[in-house]
Amino acid sequence: MNAPAKTEEFAVKIPDGVYAETVISVEHYTDRLFRFRMTRPAGFRFRSGEFAMIGLMVGEKPVYRAYSIASPAWDEELEFFSIKVPDGPLTSHLQAIKPGDTVLMRKKPTGTLVLDALTPGKRLYMFSTGTGIAPFASLIRDPETYEKFDEVILTHTCRDVAELKYGFDLVHEINNHEFLHEIVGTKLKHYPTVTREDFTYRGRITDLMESGKLFTDLGVPPLNPETDRGMICGSAAMLKDTKALLEKAGLNEGANNKPSEFVIERAFVG
Ligand code: A2P
Repeated sequence: MNAPAKTEEFAVKIPDGVYAETVISVEHYTDRLFRFRMTRPAGFRFRSGEFAMIGLMVGEKPVYRAYSIASPAWDEELEFFSIKVPDGPLTSHLQAIKPGDTVLMRKKPTGTLVLDALTPGKRLYMFSTGTGIAPFASLIRDPETYEKFDEVILTHTCRDVAELKYGFDLVHEINNHEFLHEIVGTKLKHYPTVTREDFTYRGRITDLMESGKLFTDLGVPPLNPETDRGMICGSAAMLKDTKALLEKAGLNEGANNKPSEFVIERAFVG
C-alpha cells in the first residue's frame, strides 16, 4: 500500500493578497551579498526603480522586507539583490533559498526612484552604496532611461572590490545584450569606488563630489540644476549627506506627485 500523500499535511498556507513565486536562480557574491531571480506573476506591473515587499513563511508566519526590484519593467522574470544579515528576520532565511523554492511578494509595488518623479534634464546621476544599487540595476536596463537622458552616471560605493561585482556584471550584461547595447551605446558611465581597500577609484562618493574628483574623473562639469538630475539609494547616513550636497548645488527634491531635480528612496534599509 502506498503511503498517504503528505502534501496536505505539510502544505504551507500562503496568505491572501500575496503572490507565491518560484526561485529560478541564486548567485552569491560575498558572505554579505547575493542576487536571486524568480518567476514574475502574469498580472504584476511595476515601474523600473520601484520596490515591493518580499517575504518568506518563517514557521507559520510570513516575514516581509522592502526590496527594490532590480530587473527592468520589460523583463519576464524578477531580480533582487540582497544583503545577508546573520540575525536578520528575513535575510537570515532568504540567503538559504534555492531554485524551486517559494518566495512571497505583496501585490502592490511603490517607490520614488522613478523617471516620472524627475523633471527633464540632460544628465542623470544614480548615487548608490552597497545593495542600494538595486533600483538602478532596473533603471539602467530600461530603454526609457536613455530616451530621457543623454548621459547616465551610475556611482556605486562599497567597502571592498568584491562587493562591486554585481555592478560590473550588470554593465557587462548590458554591453553584450542583444538590443540594450545599441540603445545604451556610450550613454552609461559606471563609476565604482571602494572605501576600505586599494582600487582605481577610492573614497566615499560624498567626499569625491566635494573635492570635485568625481567630475574630473568623468570629464563632466560640476552639478548644475539646469542640466543634472539625481537619484539616491543607500544607508540613512549616505542619503542625508548626498542630499545635502545636491541641495548645496541648487537641486531640489522631487516626488511622484511633484517632479523635481532629485529623488531619494527612504524605504531602503541597508
Ligand atoms: P565607509 O567604509 O567609509 O563607511 P555599508 O556596507 O556599511 O552600507 O557601506 C557601504 C559604503 O557606503 C561604504 O563604502 C561606506 O564607506 C559608504 N558610506 C557609509 N556612510 C556614508 C555616508 N554618510 N556618505 C557616503 N558614503 C557612506
